[in-house]
Amino acid sequence: MSAVASTVASCARASAARVPSRRGGHARRAASGIGVKSPRGASVVPSAFTPAGAKIAGVGMELPSQSLTNEDLASLVDTNDEWIRTRTGIGKRHVISGDESLTSLAAGAARKALADAGVDAADVDLVILATSSPDDAFGSACTVQAEIGATGALAYDLTAACSGFVVGMVNGVHFLRGGEYEHVLVIGADALSRYVDWRDRGTCILFGDGAGACVLSRVADPAECCLLGFDMHSDGTGNGNLTACFTSAATSAGTAKPTSDDDGAASSVGAFANIAMNGQEVFKFAVRTVPDTLGKSLAKAGVTSEEIDHLVLHQANQRIIDGAAKKLKLSDEKVVSNIEKYGNTSAGSVPIAMAEAVAEGRIKRGDVVATAGFGAGLTWASAVFRW
Ligand code: ACO
Repeated sequence: MSAVASTVASCARASAARVPSRRGGHARRAASGIGVKSPRGASVVPSAFTPAGAKIAGVGMELPSQSLTNEDLASLVDTNDEWIRTRTGIGKRHVISGDESLTSLAAGAARKALADAGVDAADVDLVILATSSPDDAFGSACTVQAEIGATGALAYDLTAACSGFVVGMVNGVHFLRGGEYEHVLVIGADALSRYVDWRDRGTCILFGDGAGACVLSRVADPAECCLLGFDMHSDGTGNGNLTACFTSAATSAGTAKPTSDDDGAASSVGAFANIAMNGQEVFKFAVRTVPDTLGKSLAKAGVTSEEIDHLVLHQANQRIIDGAAKKLKLSDEKVVSNIEKYGNTSAGSVPIAMAEAVAEGRIKRGDVVATAGFGAGLTWASAVFRW
C-alpha cells in the first residue's frame, strides 16, 4: 500500500469511529437542539457536526486586460529586462485599469470556477475571499457574493497576504469536513498595483494583479478528503519586512483618535502607504520556511516527495520556486510556474497557477498536488491535496 493510500485508509478508520448517524442535510440537522431533553428527561447535547468528506470540484482564473512588460517598466525606473528575468523570472505582469476592480477580478474567477464545478452560485454556502487589496476597507467578499449571485452564502474576507489562498482552502475544507456546508467557494485575489510605488524599482517589478478561485464540495464519506495534510504559521515579529501601512492624514498629529479641539476630526482621511519591502530578508525567510512547511505537510499527509505529482508554489520569485523544488528533488515537469507571464499576484498566484495547470491538462483527477504560500504578516502555509 502506498503512503497516500495508507493515509486515506487510516483516515477512514478514524472517521468511521466518530461518525454519528446522519439525519439529513446540514440545514435540516438539529443544530437548534441544544439542551433537548431525552425521553428519560436527561439533557442531551447533540453533536454539533456530522463529519463529511470534501473534494475539489472546479477552478477558474481571471486576469486584467492590460499588461506591463519589463521594457515598459524600464521606461519608469532604472531597470532592464535582463536584471528582472535573472533575479525573479518575471517577464510581464497584468494590472487593472478602467472599470476593473478587485471585485470584478474575483467575481470573474469565481464564475469560471463555478462553471467548471457545475455548481449554481445560489447553492454556495460560503465565500472566502483571500485578499489584501479589497475595494472597500470593510471587505469585498460581499460585493463578490452579490455580483455572482451567491445569495444563500455567508461571504467574508481573509487577510493573510500571499498565504491567503492556501489558508482559505484549509478553512474551506474544515467547514465541509464539519458537515455543515455543501459548497464553499475559495477565491484568492489581489490588485497590489494599487499599492505599488512605481518609482521603487525594488518592488514595482514584482507585483501583478489577478484572481483565481476554487469550488470545494462536500462528499458524504468522511474518508474521502482532498486535503491530505497542511501546516500553517505566522510570525508578526517579522512584520516590518513587508508592509503597506495605514496612514492617517487628517487626524490629530501622531494619533488615530480625533480630539475635541480638532476641527478636522469629522473629515479624517486615511489611506494605505505604498508597499515597503526588505527584499533580501523576505527572500531568506521564504527560502527557509517554504521547504520546512512543505516537509511538515507531507509528513502529516504520509506522502513522500516522490509521490508529489505537481508542486504549485506562490509565484514570488523563480529562484525561490527552484530552491524548494531542488530540496524536494522534484524534476522540472512537476513544478508549475507561470511567474514569467503574471509576476507575483499575491493571494491570486496559487489558484491562478492551479487553474492554468488544470486547463492545460497537467493537473488531473487523482494527482497529488503540494502547495505553499508565504509573504507579508509574515505568514506561511502549505497543504497537500489529492486532486
Ligand atoms: N533593476 C535593477 N537593479 C535593481 C533592481 C531592479 N529592478 N532592484 C534592485 N536592484 C539593485 C539594487 O539596488 C542592488 O544594487 P547595489 O548592489 O548597487 O546596491 C542590486 O540590484 C541587488 O539588490 P538586491 O535587493 O540584493 O537584489 P536581490 O537579488 O535580493 O533581488 C528581489 C531583489 C527580487 C526583490 C528579491 O530580494 C526577492 O525576490 N525577494 C523576495 C520577495 C518576495 O518573495 N516577496 C513575497 C511576498 S509578497 C507578499 O506577501 C505581498
